[in-house]
Formats: sequence, structure tokens, C-alpha cells
Amino acid sequence: MALEIGGYRGDGGDLAALITGTWLATYRGRAWFPLWDRAYVGWRIMEPRILDRELLVCAYDGDALVGCLLGEQTELRVGTQVVPGSLTSYLSVDPSTRHRGVALLMLERQRSVHRSRGLRLSVGLCNRRAGSEQKRFWDGFGRRWPQEFAIVGRYRMWCAVVDPGAIAAAGLTGFERFGPWLGALIPWGWIGVRGARTRPYRDADLPACAGWVHRQGSRADCQMIWSAPRLAVQLDHPYARTWVAEREGAPWGFANGYLIDWSGARTVRVGFVELCAGDGGVAAHASLLVAAGRALAAEGAQMVVVMDAGCQPRAALLAAGFAPLDPHLQTMALLGDLATTLPRSARLHCPFT
Ligand SMILES: CC(C)(COP(=O)(O)OP(=O)(O)OC[C@H]1O[C@@H](n2cnc3c(N)ncnc32)[C@H](O)[C@@H]1OP(=O)(O)O)[C@@H](O)C(=O)NCCC(=O)NCCS
Repeated sequence: MALEIGGYRGDGGDLAALITGTWLATYRGRAWFPLWDRAYVGWRIMEPRILDRELLVCAYDGDALVGCLLGEQTELRVGTQVVPGSLTSYLSVDPSTRHRGVALLMLERQRSVHRSRGLRLSVGLCNRRAGSEQKRFWDGFGRRWPQEFAIVGRYRMWCAVVDPGAIAAAGLTGFERFGPWLGALIPWGWIGVRGARTRPYRDADLPACAGWVHRQGSRADCQMIWSAPRLAVQLDHPYARTWVAEREGAPWGFANGYLIDWSGARTVRVGFVELCAGDGGVAAHASLLVAAGRALAAEGAQMVVVMDAGCQPRAALLAAGFAPLDPHLQTMALLGDLATTLPRSARLHCPFT
């Protein structure tokens, strides 16, 4: 096998197929994970305004894509300093190519791209369930490069069940098959929170949305600094949904999300609320979550999910009707001299693709 490690060469189709095929072959029926379709990859990876082929490190066997490690360059605020860094995700190696060092070779390449660009840190997610392949792999990586690897914080998943029958049937554990029926008893805005009145996002909303996101992230130990063009891709794309709340014609907050299939024991349609920020306190935030959750449910979401690396307002999530779950995920910092400087239990504010 003549393996070649380098930047991504394709149009997104083989990347979606590799990731979905690898994760289905490895984790189908054992763990929850999103099923990336071509359109999702078109938004999050291939969008011309953010496409960065060098940081999408891939392994090729001839023309066949057999491995990938996705990176996106971004500025990160770490403590009080703003540094160039990256987001890392979806390390995947085709099952027929495992245990030959492909993942380590891709990480080494990613590390050398980080060095040549002066990137100080990357953040990502991994499953820390005892005995999981991921845990074993990353523990091994941490032993190899202890000066550039740290598990930093807990990652929580907040869920609002819309279709308890579908979610229970997709459950992987007794709790997941039983819990959705209980979860569904919690209505949207169950303690009197009404859904905010919203309208679709417009270009002119960008500066206000940037301000709200930035302010929310300032409570984190490590915060992604959204550039205006990057936030525009997030908020204004056919794959994304963005709702802006107004009072007497004046915007005061927004929510942003999308729909995607997830694999559990069966496939379910999940609505993600990825960004949600604005003026006002707990009640205002809860009303944004309710509006976004209802809109995603109306489009077919069987469950609505908010991911939380420590910065989401918990009181608002509870008030809106979300319940916390432990997906056994933790955030990790790697690939740079700042990777070991984050506090244990660091709170992160950045999207995880
Ligand atoms: C996790 C994953 C990416 C690892 O890919 P891989 O290419 O098999 O990984 P490597 O070969 O580089 O390293 C895996 C192991 O093989 C060992 N290895 C490396 N080269 C080897 C070789 N030539 N011969 C035998 N073993 C070797 C490594 O030491 C490592 O051992 P360890 O797990 O005990 O530390 C792959 O299993 C996968 O895609 N899993 C599904 C998706 C996933 O979980 N991704 C992680 C997301 S956070």
C-alpha cells in the first residue's frame, strides 16, 4: 500500500462517505453520532469562504481517500491572550487501513502545519467512556506527546424530546429507551416561558449577533473568536437556520441551528441549536431556546439538542424544557505549546463540527 498524507483534494463527496462509513462500521448500535451528508460537509467544510485544504489532512491510497483529520484555523482567546489556533474534529481511518499508524501520521502532519503557521493550540472532542477505542487512541497519543495534549473539560448534551417513541426506539441503553418517555413529559417552556417572537436572519443582523456571541463566550477559559465572514457562513447558509428575536422592531437576540440524522440503535432526526445569545437574562434566553426548539420540531426534529462545553446558561436550558445528559465526551487541547496551559475543567466556547 503506497500511502500518501496531505491536504484534501476532493469535492466533499468522498469525505462525507469516508466519515459516515467509518463511524457506522465502528460504532453503529454502540454509540450516538451524526451521519454527515454531503450538504452538511458542503456547509461546514467545503464552503469556499472557509475551505482550507491544507488543514484538512487526509490519507490517500492511490486516489482512494482512506483517512481524514479535519482542522479549521481560527483565533482563540486563551485566558487573556488571543492566539492563532484551530478546531480539530473527526479523525477517521477506514477500517481496512487501521493499526498501520495512519492516524498518527495524519496527526504528525497536522502538527507540522500548526508549527509552520504558528498555531498555538487546537481544541476538539473525544469519547472518554472506559474501554472505548477513542479513549485508548487518545491516551496513547497523550503518552507520545504529553507536552502537547490535555483532556480539559466535561461536555454535556442538553436534550428536549419531541417524539419519545422514535427516540426511545433508537436508545442504546435501558435508560435511553425509558428516559425519553419521561423527558417528553417536560413541555417547551414548562414553567411559563413563552417562545420569543422571531423573524429570519438578515445580513444587517451580523454585527449584533457577533457582539452577543462574543459576550457570551467571554465567560469561557478558551473562546473561539468568530470573524465576521466566518459567522456569516454559520448564520446565513441554506443548511443553517437562524432566527432573530425582535421587540418593537429592535433585535435583542438570536438562535442558530440545523437538522441532521443521528445514528443510535435506529436513525433519528436531530435538531441542533448551536448558537443562542442575546440581551436579557435567564427568561429571555429560555424564550429564544423555546422558539428555536419549536421551529426545529416543526421541521421534523424528533429531538432537539444543545451541546455545552461549560458556557451554556443552565437555568435557561432547564426553564426551556431541556434535560442534561452525559454523552461521555470531553474536550481536549492538543497540537501546540498552549495545549497544556488550560485549567482542568476548562470551559470552552466554540462550535464542534
Ligand atoms: C481511532 C482511529 C482513528 C485510529 O486509527 P489508526 O490509523 O488505526 O490509528 P494508528 O494506527 O495510528 O494507531 C492505532 C494503534 O495502532 C498502533 N500502531 C501504529 N502503527 C502501527 C503498526 N505499524 N503496526 C501495529 N500497530 C501500530 C498505535 O500504536 C496505536 O496503538 P494504541 O491504540 O494502543 O495507542 C480509528 O480506529 C478510527 O477511525 N476509529 C473510528 C473513529 C474514531 O473513533 N475516531 C476518533 C475520533 S475522536
